Amino acid sequence: MNYERVPLWSFWASSVPCLSSSGRSSTSTACLSNFTHEIVQLVRRCINTTTLHFYAFWYNRAMANEFQIRSARLADAEKIFSLIHINRDLLVPRSMGNIVENIDRFLVAVSGLDIVACASFQIHPEIGKPEAATVEIQSVAVRSPYRRRGIGRKIIEAIIARVAAFNPKEVVVLTFAPEFFAALGFREIPKTQIMHKLYTGCINCTKHTDPFTCPEIAMVRGI
Ligand SMILES: CC(C)(COP(=O)(O)OP(=O)(O)OC[C@H]1O[C@@H](n2cnc3c(N)ncnc32)[C@H](O)[C@@H]1OP(=O)(O)O)[C@@H](O)C(=O)NCCC(=O)NCCS
Repeated sequence: MNYERVPLWSFWASSVPCLSSSGRSSTSTACLSNFTHEIVQLVRRCINTTTLHFYAFWYNRAMANEFQIRSARLADAEKIFSLIHINRDLLVPRSMGNIVENIDRFLVAVSGLDIVACASFQIHPEIGKPEAATVEIQSVAVRSPYRRRGIGRKIIEAIIARVAAFNPKEVVVLTFAPEFFAALGFREIPKTQIMHKLYTGCINCTKHTDPFTCPEIAMVRGI
């Protein structure tokens, strides 16, 4: 057989009995109707698969865009732990005990049954000036497939709305994601402006010996 001159479809046709040379003895009408039936089935299968993929694609998109921000519950602690743990290079590690103890300071973003983001806050008191306490945003993480959809922005806005009730002057963050916080109105400050945070938080850091050589960037946003 000269393969160069044989059209591709003929290989497929040879698998349909009535079109193969051995099947040519069948009546041409039956053969044609079988052939038409095969084609219709093939087209149907293609349409079904394409439709399925189309719906699956849009369902996933819709689910990813549908999320709700709410206060964390005790039952969320393990999922929060794993979200922080997955991002351990970028976030200060937290034990389960610490998360449970501070569960009332966590917000989560939920999509379906999944916890897709978390954020929390901590108050660092200033000796002799209770109103000058520093409110720090901590443990901000969005699960990677859900990033760049506005979930980070929404959860930070929700945390700020929650701490605004305490009437602080500003919120601070120490972060490896300065572009994200800059997009939310934060500006960089020298670490010397948040000494009480350094004393109460960074003093216990297990990653860096000195907060002034630690690469995290200090940022602030007024309330
Ligand atoms: C940083 C992080 C929380 C951002 O979450 P997100 O849901 O992707 O952020 P959003 O989609 O809400 O983005 C909000 C804005 O920040 C910007 N942004 C988000 N991630 C960014 C990045 N990595 N670099 C630059 N800009 C970024 C977006 O462009 C967006 O601006 P726009 O609304 O004007 O377009 C997420 O990437 C993450 O969990 N990172 C790992 C953990 C981490 O670094 N946490 C912060 C430490 S405190």
